[in-house]
Amino acid sequence: MAETLASAPGASREERYVELSNRWEALLRGEPNRTANLANVAAVLKEEFGWHWVGFYLVDEGRDELVLGPFQGPLACTRLHHGKGVCAAAWDTGVAQVVPDVHAFDGHVACSALTESELVIPIVAADEVVGVLDIDSTIRDDVSAADVRALAPLVKLLGNNWNAWE
Ligand code: SME
Repeated sequence: MAETLASAPGASREERYVELSNRWEALLRGEPNRTANLANVAAVLKEEFGWHWVGFYLVDEGRDELVLGPFQGPLACTRLHHGKGVCAAAWDTGVAQVVPDVHAFDGHVACSALTESELVIPIVAADEVVGVLDIDSTIRDDVSAADVRALAPLVKLLGNNWNAWE
């Protein structure tokens, strides 16, 4: 595992994505535990970009709900349901959700009153959505399709490894 993943202090978001893109495989290599790997991914994203909340919601097949997974940031809702909120929209549609203003998203689940914008990307393993990566910012308009594009290789890597992890 890499000792440090931090980019230079003044690096732009684009530069940070490029820096990290070369390091995800090394971060995940050799560790078969899903929780451990998702926890480190959340930590790296939070450290690198300073977002308000970064974490995962995992599909709980037995209950047909999303349940809180590894995350970094303030206390969060533990369970999310079909048809309500940004995470559920990504789960239900399999399509990344870019929400520049959470107040304009009908049904947004406000786990933190400080969140202004949000990005949720579904994680697909064996053609099924198995969870989502959720990123919250306290700044309005702080997420865009460029973030989805930059994070896509990471999310694909997670999906490819998902079912092999314990
Ligand atoms: N806002 C999300 C809920 C999860 S929190 O942001 C951590 C939603 O609308 O699904």
